[in-house]
Amino acid sequence: MDVHAFVFPCNQCLLLFLVVLLLHVFLFSAISAIAALQDNSNDLSSLLAFKAASTSGGDASSDNIIIANWTTDAPFCTWIGIGCSRRRPGVISLNLNSFSLQGTISPYLSNLSFLSSLDLSNNSLSGIIPETLGRLPRLVTLILRWNLLSGPIPRSIFNMSSLVSIGLSSNNLSSSLPTLIVMLPRIEWISISDNLLTGHIPADFARCSTLQRICLNINKLTGSVLSSLGNLSKLVHLSLGENQFIRAISTLIGNLTKLQYLFMGINNLEGKIPKELGNLVNL
Ligand SMILES: *[C@@H]1O[C@H](CO)[C@@H](O)[C@H](O)[C@H]1NC(C)=O
Ligand SMILES: *[C@@H]1O[C@H](CO)[C@@H](O)[C@H](O)[C@H]1NC(C)=O
Ligand SMILES: *[C@@H]1O[C@H](CO)[C@@H](O)[C@H](O)[C@H]1NC(C)=O
Ligand SMILES: *[C@@H]1O[C@H](CO)[C@@H](O)[C@H](O)[C@H]1NC(C)=O
Ligand SMILES: *[C@@H]1O[C@H](CO)[C@@H](O)[C@H](O)[C@H]1NC(C)=O
Ligand SMILES: *[C@@H]1O[C@H](CO)[C@@H](O)[C@H](O)[C@H]1NC(C)=O
Ligand SMILES: *[C@@H]1O[C@H](CO)[C@@H](O)[C@H](O)[C@H]1NC(C)=O
Repeated sequence: MDVHAFVFPCNQCLLLFLVVLLLHVFLFSAISAIAALQDNSNDLSSLLAFKAASTSGGDASSDNIIIANWTTDAPFCTWIGIGCSRRRPGVISLNLNSFSLQGTISPYLSNLSFLSSLDLSNNSLSGIIPETLGRLPRLVTLILRWNLLSGPIPRSIFNMSSLVSIGLSSNNLSSSLPTLIVMLPRIEWISISDNLLTGHIPADFARCSTLQRICLNINKLTGSVLSSLGNLSKLVHLSLGENQFIRAISTLIGNLTKLQYLFMGINNLEGKIPKELGNLVNL
């Protein structure tokens, strides 16, 4: 645009203003469209990486339904198991519960930056849980139960500000729970039962004051029960059975007054049953 435009009389100032405004609007929508396309192609390559990794194991995998269905002939929002938002181009949910997946979980799932729900339950996924899953900024639900996953639970999973539910039960996950970083300000439900977890329940769990359900039964956890849980006043369900917990049950159990379900059987507990148990009128 010509610089001389600025010295034009004022009726033309208005015209110039309108032109500049239009130009802005045009540029802005062009930039948004490019950003949307970028998201779109990032999501596409991330889904293709997921498909390749999760159908790579076993003999029966070649006729897996996602191999036939997830083809680039159709937009990925029409693929089976995928939910997209109407407003944005990205994937918001991935629900592949019972899809006979047999490979591993691609670390590139973390490129699905709008993902809020991930459910890969009841497959035969093996290998580790990628550390990158902890970098999904909008993830609310993470359900990987009934698979063959092994190795540690990535520390990053315990530092996700949007996470409400973690379901990792019935896998082969080992190592201890994180002793330091537990930053889950919205968490309501943690289920990691039927795994190979060792060590103590970290004291940091006391900070997850929004927790309502904890299922850690059938593991190899040890230490004392509840010294780190007495603060969780919203707790409704607590199952810690079939572990190696020792020592007496803390009197803090009397603080969990919302508790409706409590299972601590099959452990190495000793001492008295605290009289504070009587406070739990909803049990
Ligand atoms: C994931 O995102 C990174 C960074 O944007 C990019 O370099 C990489 O190619 C993406 N990979 C896949 C498989 O989407
Ligand atoms: C993939 O599955 C969806 C949902 O069942 C279906 O609507 C779509 O037509 C399928 N696409 C292909 C290519 O099979
Ligand atoms: C798990 O998946 C198998 C097929 O792979 C199916 O037969 C079974 O009903 C599923 N179980 C649950 C609890 O969803
Ligand atoms: C799970 O771990 C146990 C004990 O380490 C091992 O015997 C078993 O083979 C593992 N199962 C799978 C599916 O990895
Ligand atoms: C936890 O996550 C926040 C951002 O989500 C990050 O800035 C911080 O470094 C993380 N902390 C640890 C200890 O990983
Ligand atoms: C108990 O919860 C309060 C707030 O909910 C928090 O300030 C405190 O640090 C917690 N106690 C422990 C032992 O973490
Ligand atoms: C348990 O409850 C008692 C009485 O209500 C309270 O004084 C105490 O601070 C609570 N302890 C914890 C760890 O929340």
